[in-house]
Order: sequence, then C-alpha cells, then structure tokens
Amino acid sequence: MITPEHLTGFLMMHAGFRAEFGRLAEACGDPRDDAHEELLAEQLALVLDMLHAHHSHEDATLWPKLTGRAPQAADALAELESEHSVLDPLIEAAADRGTPLAGRAPVLRRLHELVNEHLDHEERVAVPLMLAHLTPADVEADRRQAMDDFGRRRVPVILGWLASSADARLLATSYADLPVVARLMFRLFWWPAYRRRFTRLYGTTPADLILEP
Ligand SMILES: [Fe+2]
Ligand SMILES: [Fe+2]
Repeated sequence: MITPEHLTGFLMMHAGFRAEFGRLAEACGDPRDDAHEELLAEQLALVLDMLHAHHSHEDATLWPKLTGRAPQAADALAELESEHSVLDPLIEAAADRGTPLAGRAPVLRRLHELVNEHLDHEERVAVPLMLAHLTPADVEADRRQAMDDFGRRRVPVILGWLASSADARLLATSYADLPVVARLMFRLFWWPAYRRRFTRLYGTTPADLILEP
C-alpha cells in the first residue's frame, strides 16, 4: 500500500506528455529558421524517447506486476496496453526524420489528443490499482528505472521539461523529493537554462516556478 505522493514521479511524466505534444504541434508547423527546426527536432526526439520508455516500462513491468496482484484487473490493464499499440504508429510517424517538421505537425496534434485520452483512462483505471497494490519498494525500483531511462546527461533538460508542464502542487511534491544537491542545481542552473530553451523553442516564457530552497 502506498500514498498518492509515491506516484508523483509517474504523474510528473504524464504531465510532461500531456503538455509537450501540443506545444510541439504548434511550433513545428512553422519553424523560424534551421537552428529552430533543429532544436524542435531534438526536443521532439527526447520526448518521444521518454514516451516509448514509459510505455515499455508499463507493458513489461508495471501491468504484469499489477495483474499478478489483482487478477480481476487483467482485462482493464490489457486495454491500456492495447492503447499503447494504437499510439505506436503515431509515435513512429512523429519520429520520422525523413519528413520535415511542418509535415509532422498534424501527426503531433493527433498524438497530443490521443495521448491525453490515454492518460485520462490510465489515471482513472491504473492509478487506483497502483495505490492499492504497489509497495514503496516497487516505487523505488520504478524511480531507478526512470533515472536509467533519462541517462545522467539528459537529467537537467528532462527535469526542466517536467517542471514546465506540471501544476504547482505536483511540482512542489516532486521538488521536495529531490536530493538537496539536485534541488540546488535545479534552482541555480537547470531551470534558468531550461527557461531559455523553452523561449527558443516556443517563443514565450514559461510560468515562474515557486521553489523553496
Ligand atoms: Fe503512464
Ligand atoms: Fe500508458
């Protein structure tokens, strides 16, 4: 049995996916110049890679574990898994560097809609099962897996992306969970750098964050 706070990392990822494909669909429709196009392509590749890693982890580890502990939920979880397969061709089309970004914008818009529907469904069905059947040790194993998926070099950008996407409450819980050195690095370096990246990507400034030391 775990508390809702244990699912902060999982829900932060969802918040990141919910926000970013819509932002990318808008910006990819009309890149300013080659440098902007390159930065958008890099951001898109990163977020698609994270979405793929998130789905793979759910299909290979999380759903089988929950099915083992709550066999009555097998059908509901199989349905979530089949939604991943529906999203796969869109993810593939969105990642296709053979198509200019402007040509991929409609795919990104569709991906934005379907990802949000999938995450609504997942939060309705899977989150209650996770709360009832996961242990703190399971959550810690998931956290380590996510850090492996991020890779050390990408952590600053990924944390910036997630912070630019989450609501204040989720962000505060997630920030409080970081080791003290990471909190310091995030406040002093990672977030200011990501704000500049966000402005280069999307032409606007992200909302200010309220971060306790
Ligand atoms: Fe998920
Ligand atoms: Fe999912």
